[in-house]
Amino acid sequence: MTDGQADRQLLIASNRGPVSFSRSNGTLTARRGGGGMVSGLSAAAEDTPMVWVCAALSDADREAASNSPGGLLDATETGGGAAVRMLNIPPKVYESAYNRVANSTLWFVHHMLYDTPNQPSFGPALTGEWDAFRQYNEMFADALATAAQEAGGAGRTSAQAVIQDYHLCLAPRMLAERVPGMPIAHFSHTPWAPPEYYRLLPWEVGHEILAGILGADHAGFLSQRWAHAFMDCCETLLGAKVDRDRGLVSFAGHLTSIGVHPLGVDAAQLRARAAEPDVIEKMAALADATGGRRLIVRVDRTELSKNIVRGLEAYRELLRAHPEWHGKVVHLAFAYPSRGDLPEYREYTAAVQRLAAEIGEEFAAPGWDPVVLEVNDDYPRSLAACRLADVLLVNPIRDGMNLVAKEAPILSDRGCVVVLSTEAGAAAELGRHALLVNPFDVMQTMRALHEALTMPDEERSSRCSALAAEASATPPGRWLAQQLDALNHPLAG
Ligand code: G6P
Repeated sequence: MTDGQADRQLLIASNRGPVSFSRSNGTLTARRGGGGMVSGLSAAAEDTPMVWVCAALSDADREAASNSPGGLLDATETGGGAAVRMLNIPPKVYESAYNRVANSTLWFVHHMLYDTPNQPSFGPALTGEWDAFRQYNEMFADALATAAQEAGGAGRTSAQAVIQDYHLCLAPRMLAERVPGMPIAHFSHTPWAPPEYYRLLPWEVGHEILAGILGADHAGFLSQRWAHAFMDCCETLLGAKVDRDRGLVSFAGHLTSIGVHPLGVDAAQLRARAAEPDVIEKMAALADATGGRRLIVRVDRTELSKNIVRGLEAYRELLRAHPEWHGKVVHLAFAYPSRGDLPEYREYTAAVQRLAAEIGEEFAAPGWDPVVLEVNDDYPRSLAACRLADVLLVNPIRDGMNLVAKEAPILSDRGCVVVLSTEAGAAAELGRHALLVNPFDVMQTMRALHEALTMPDEERSSRCSALAAEASATPPGRWLAQQLDALNHPLAG
């Protein structure tokens, strides 16, 4: 980081924060927040002081925020490196902004999840929901503007903000209007939809989102593909001037630099965590439960974009086409609860459970359970499974990055082969050393699983080391520092 940046107070904004509270036996207890984006930024917060603005997600969060002076929880209360300001957003506004607009609309567009003959259908409800989404973004912009004003003292000259993800796509422009001249970056942790699909959004909504992000001085993406899709949308739908070679978009008299910053893993820290006794205990339990058989592992949220059902179908085809694997392989499928407020997610979870049960009925034999499906989140058990995996299956329909594809090769004890979707952002870095598959092609996925299981030891371990090296190239601290460099030197290089 340069001297100029070191003087500026760093402000981070994201919907989900680095800490969440729960109330038990009359006391509030803090727990570190979950998910790839939060864990990456939390790791970066350990070396860079920051104020992190997020939404209070529960009554316990609201209570913790209102108990602290000015709603600011300091780093000692949050157990991490950041001071956290939790916003008390009115529940109705939050429900519309988070469940309706962010997760049922923007997430679906960027991951291309709609069953278009039936969905989406933007009716009268959208107007109110979109107003709520604006209000939610305004509350973040107000809090960031206040924090920027407060940052004037204590030898700091000013502040800079890095705003995260699709929930906060309007906030960059709103903040730039409130604090002119403040350096602002936005980072998208999702894919970006190509213009043909992005056009599904009502014109004003699509327009306002692009213009919102272009209020920032720097817009970051996890892969070149998503950055190009964003620039294509800016050019085609907004009429912005785009210079793809230099990564610059000019709109309404303002220039935004576009950057590709793939998030990686802090290998030393992850390995140290996976060497702790709770993980060792889970490894013993898993080895025992699977009888030392070959393991095909997946670890995901039960998320529509993760393509868990086709993954199970590919495994079923493997057992049908290759009876030699009967009794010799187990598929450990960890599919943890996610976004249970949305009916599509509850139905998807049921479909995953049904198919896993059907595979059991078709193939199970005394002493051999071909699929072990776990739906309760257990982090030490996930790390244990990654250490033991022979094959990791990562077959999303579309994914911003996919950090599990990076974590498993770093953790693997015996050289795990990664069967990886071409549609995951991680494929840009890992593709050469993984077995790439079209996530819709169940038979190709089945063949890749077979190839992974039969790959000679020497090849599997050399591929795994290459994957681990790629995966640890940009640990979170470096990833964030690169964005700050780009923000402060937009035209360099
Ligand atoms: C994943 C995505 C992020 C997103 C987050 C939200 O981690 O990669 O882009 O912000 O999910 O998940 P949540 O559980 O907070 O809805």
